Amino acid sequence: MAPFPVRLGVNIDHVATLRQARGEFDPDPLAAAHLARLAGADQIVLHVREDRRHANETDLRRFRETATLPVNLEMALTDEMAALALSFLPERVTLVPEKRNERTTEGGLVLSPDYLKALAPFSERCAEKGIRLSLFMDPDPEMLERIPSFGVDQVELHTGPYARAFGTSREGEEFARLSAAGAMLSRRDLVLAAGHGLNLFNLPRILGLPKLAEVNIGHSIIARAVLFGIREAVSEVRSLLLAPRGGEGL
Ligand code: PXP
Repeated sequence: MAPFPVRLGVNIDHVATLRQARGEFDPDPLAAAHLARLAGADQIVLHVREDRRHANETDLRRFRETATLPVNLEMALTDEMAALALSFLPERVTLVPEKRNERTTEGGLVLSPDYLKALAPFSERCAEKGIRLSLFMDPDPEMLERIPSFGVDQVELHTGPYARAFGTSREGEEFARLSAAGAMLSRRDLVLAAGHGLNLFNLPRILGLPKLAEVNIGHSIIARAVLFGIREAVSEVRSLLLAPRGGEGL
């Protein structure tokens, strides 16, 4: 029997970043989400950061009200974000570490005793509300061992180091780390997801991870969408300039 197809989560944060560059309405991440759905996305991913540099609660509310795809909310485990998740009820929350000055999520979670203490009540509240919980983790066996046995059903492995090593002498080593981590997670019955830095070139090897259930991709999809869309966007304006002009001002 063919394996179940890998789910695709499309992260629309960069669309929101572009909107924020003008502080107005375009491009609308919700429109991007609808188009992503039509093209075959299985879920929409957005990261609401403390500084709201891209997606914000208005986006989350609009997704909840009108989007027909499950929402995977990436967030740091803070009181503010926990309250947000528990009021907007995304289908999934992916907990990520968050540093104020980082450009993007830089590493997986550090499951320190304090973190695990904060995670326990949040995971209980998520379970009560039907929110599935995922942890964004480096393929570090020692850290993966610390994942609690209750409350978390999925782990998204951080593929950033593999993506950066892709095509270099370190690619095999980084892939082997992901592969060993994936095997460890499947022994614990945790669903395996992968994300960060994935693109058309480095994705095929990742799809070889046994039991991979989901990939979450943002940057490379939005980057390609911008480039492939430029020709049409410029042509539209060019056609307008080529059309006969009205008499005003002549
Ligand atoms: N998964 C997680 C947990 C992330 O933090 C990000 C970046 O926001 C992604 C996936 C998507 O990464 P990229 O934009 O590099 O595809």
